[in-house]
Order: sequence, then C-alpha cells, then structure tokens
Amino acid sequence: MAYLRVRDVHVHYPIRNAWGIPQGEVRAVDGVSLEVERGEVLGLVGESGCGKTSLSRAIMQLQPVTSGSIELDGEELIGKKERELRRKRTDFQMVFQDPYASLNPRFSIYSTLVEALSRRAPLPWRRRRDAVAQLMEKVGLSAEHMYKYPHEFSGGQRQRVAIARAIAPEPKFLVADEPVSALDVSIRSQILNLLMDLTHEMGLAMLFISHDLSVVHHVADRIAVMQRGRIVEYGEAREVFNHPQHSYTQQLLRAVPKMLQ
Ligand SMILES: Nc1ncnc2c1ncn2[C@@H]1O[C@H](COP(=O)(O)OP(=O)(O)OP(=O)(O)O)[C@@H](O)[C@H]1O
Ligand SMILES: [Mg+2]
Repeated sequence: MAYLRVRDVHVHYPIRNAWGIPQGEVRAVDGVSLEVERGEVLGLVGESGCGKTSLSRAIMQLQPVTSGSIELDGEELIGKKERELRRKRTDFQMVFQDPYASLNPRFSIYSTLVEALSRRAPLPWRRRRDAVAQLMEKVGLSAEHMYKYPHEFSGGQRQRVAIARAIAPEPKFLVADEPVSALDVSIRSQILNLLMDLTHEMGLAMLFISHDLSVVHHVADRIAVMQRGRIVEYGEAREVFNHPQHSYTQQLLRAVPKMLQ
C-alpha cells in the first residue's frame, strides 16, 4: 500500500473585495489525487502559481483542505485532533524554499537541532552535543559551527541546517518545496545530491517540488505535472521526460536548456 495517498483534494481560497465581502474563490488545488510509495521520490512540477505550495501545505496539514482525503501510512490526516496530529507529525517533515525565513534567527544551530532531535523523545543533556555534531556531519556541516546563528552561514549551509532539522526526528516522509530555487546555481547540485543520498540512506519517501522539469527529472522516480490546480500528466520520470504526452509538459520541456536534456 502507498505510504502517502492523496485523493481528490481541493484547496480553495476565498477572494474578498475591499470591504471584506467574499467574491468567488481561487481554486488553487482543484481535485488532485496522487500516491507516494515507501522510499520513492515523486517529483511535482508546474509553473508558478499552479498550486504546488498549496498542495504541499495541505499534505503537511499546515493549510485547511476544502475537501478530499490525505492518508499517511493508512491513517486519515484530515480532521485529526491537534494532539494526535502532533504525534504523527514527527513522521513527516518539510524543507522550504527559503532557508533563512524557515530558521529562527534568534536560535543557534545547536538549539534548533536539539529541539528537532527531541521531538520524538527527550534527549538527555549529556548526549546533546554529540547528537548535534553527528547530525551536522551527516549533512556536510562542520560540528565546530554548532553555536553559530543562521545569519553567520551561507545560503547553501543554511539549507543544510534546514535539512538536518527535517531529518532529525527520523521521519518517513519528506516534502521539499523548491529546496534549491533560492540558492546559487553553483551549489544547487550539492544540495540536491545531499537530499538524494539521505533519502536513499534513510529509506525516506519524498515529494519533491520544483518549477524546473530538468531538476525534477534528476531526482524523481515518478513525476506529476500540475497545471492550474490539476495533475495533467503522471508517470515514470524517464517516460514523462523523454516522451511527454500532454502539451503542457512538452511546453515545460521546451523551457529546459538543450544541454540538460
Ligand atoms: N493564502 C492564500 N490566499 C489566497 N490565494 C492564495 C493563497 N496562497 C496562494 N494563493 C493563490 O493560489 C494559487 C496557487 O498558489 P501556490 O503558492 O500554491 O502556487 P505555486 O505553484 O506554489 O507557485 P510558486 O511556484 O510561485 O511557488 C495562486 O493563484 C495564488 O495566488
Ligand atoms: Mg510555491
């Protein structure tokens, strides 16, 4: 059975006029169904505004869903009480586009990672330093920087911290929403490779979101193409990339520089 099962999910936002009176709605996610198997990377690709973030926030239960079903490991998440959700949340974590905005600037890396490592079970004082050092090394950071603050790191290093924080509670499923879009082109592949290595090593399933088909093709086992709130093409990554069926996928492919195809 699939680890994540999304069925006919809708996320609609009300549009209000200047007086706050509702005037229709934006159908950001308009009936999406998809599945992610254990240990599989599903790539979600589509242009800006097609609803990728709305869908990922709905899956993470950070965003109310208008209708539909989201099952994680056979358990329905929609309508779950906050207390049960908090327990379940350790199993699914998220990496955001902007690592600076997603890290608390007033917390040292040490505090951020101790908090993340304690989410499943309390971490005894005497083990904290070693556990943080081990985690930092796992994501390619030197443990000697553990008492530094987010602003003292480069963008790529900050995204490594954000990845460390996401994997700390040993989740089973990761949502990465445009994790390299805000980074320098020169370090994007390092961060992508790190994510790939970790998902393999930890047997993690991942929903990887990008507007760039060549990036998604590089990391995903299967690809879902999203246009205006709907999935228009869904299949094996190689098939979708080499033989796109839908005209919108063909359009996305034309936007990929020739040398990357
Ligand atoms: N909180 C909100 N309230 C109202 N409309 C919203 C809200 N969030 C997103 N939208 C609208 O929903 C649609 C989908 O937005 P979303 O951010 O999910 O797209 P996206 O695919 O992630 O885009 P991007 O690639 O730019 O990140 C857009 O039309 C957006 O303007
Ligand atoms: Mg987005």
